Amino acid sequence: MLTYGCQMNFSDAERMEGELAKIGYTSTEDMAQADLIMINTCCVRETAEDKVYGKIGEIKSLKRNNPDLILGITGCMAQKEGERLIKRAPHIDFVLGTNKIHEVVATVQKLEQSQIKHIVDTEINESEMPENISIHRKTPLSAWVPIMYGCNNFCTYCIVPYVRGRERSRLPEEIVAEVKEAVKQGYKEVTLLGQNVNSYGKDHQKATFAQLLAMVDKVEGIERVRYMTSHPKDLSDEVIEVIKNSQHICNHFHLPVQYGSNKILKAMNRVYTVEAYKELIHKIRAAMPDASITTDLIVGFPGETEEDFRQLLDFLTEIRYDQAYTFIYSKRSGTPAAEMDEQVDDELKHDRLNRLMELQNKISLEKNQALQDKVLEVMVEGPSANDDKVWSGRTTTNKLVLWPYQGREQPGDFVNVRICQPQTWVLKGELE
Ligand code: SAH
Ligand code: SF4
Ligand code: F3S
Repeated sequence: MLTYGCQMNFSDAERMEGELAKIGYTSTEDMAQADLIMINTCCVRETAEDKVYGKIGEIKSLKRNNPDLILGITGCMAQKEGERLIKRAPHIDFVLGTNKIHEVVATVQKLEQSQIKHIVDTEINESEMPENISIHRKTPLSAWVPIMYGCNNFCTYCIVPYVRGRERSRLPEEIVAEVKEAVKQGYKEVTLLGQNVNSYGKDHQKATFAQLLAMVDKVEGIERVRYMTSHPKDLSDEVIEVIKNSQHICNHFHLPVQYGSNKILKAMNRVYTVEAYKELIHKIRAAMPDASITTDLIVGFPGETEEDFRQLLDFLTEIRYDQAYTFIYSKRSGTPAAEMDEQVDDELKHDRLNRLMELQNKISLEKNQALQDKVLEVMVEGPSANDDKVWSGRTTTNKLVLWPYQGREQPGDFVNVRICQPQTWVLKGELE
């Protein structure tokens, strides 16, 4: 199972693997060993799609060696392209859309047992909620828990509402049961997932997002609760209040602003203004001065002028995010922005991205330098990516911390680390 894209896709993959385990499939890292290869795809930007086409090409030779190998494409690109994928690459055996993860076993069985050539199913039936699914969790410490599917916002650049359908919230009791189950399996942290978690429950009216957070916070044994993504237009005072008064909800707000000028925000259909967003940040900082705030930004949206871009830089200087995830606008056909005049030239987009990152990196470093000599609580993850004598973990504010391994700390432990060397992306320190 190869997965691209966002946490929601990783969560879907865990569920499809859990289902496939019921009919005897186990996972392997080695593609040449596999009887079934599934590519769980993303189409949020063109680069994501290019990677998938590359992989599909690679698998062609594996199929020549093993004619029984089944190749399936799932996820957002499967939803968007459907039948077209098979026209382009006839060695694909099945294409399942984003609302069909519970159909994966039946689909694979049909292909194993019969002479059917291809299966394509990309129907989105919004009344169908994939409950009672087995989950094969892949993450060691933090469990993904989807709380809602789909998106109703139709930001003009974004493909997600077209490939994930309308918003559907899971019932609060199903979510709490899944969190309890994860705790029973040893997870100390959960991340609640949705494209716009702040509109959780608006459909079934059984609980608001604030109420759901309060319920999850009370689950016995849970140490940390995270969630994503939070849309600024729906972040209520009640949510801030619940987080402030909670025991376990992390001191981190990821609040994608996307841009810092009203003209572009309006063209993006983000619905809020720069002023309303700043007011929100003010409320968060007044309630929780130690909370970190991060964001997503898009440069090169159609019609972006040098003046708009300067407003964005001024906005960043004023807000001072801890971190920003920056993207170059990618034209997605079928979305309103793809039809807009004044598409920004590629070279200019890259130039603006570099200027943006330069400013934000400077701010991120300054923010981290303010933590010099502070002792922070860290949940231990394990050896860092490059050196097994250096271990890593995260603070409640979601900052990555590195320290020389002392031999007594275990993954999942909470330890205190004194920060000696704060950098742009990591805080280096020593165990207290
Ligand atoms: N639902 C989440 C975002 C999901 S997509 C939210 O509204 O915050 C993750 C990020 O990808 C977005 O925040 C946006 O910054 C970026 N993105 C989405 N569509 C894009 C596009 N067409 N080009 C470039 N970046 C895009
Ligand atoms: Fe895309 Fe906007 Fe929905 Fe996020 S809120 S998934 S950016 S349409
Ligand atoms: Fe990509 Fe789909 Fe997520 S388009 S970002 S995998 S919802």
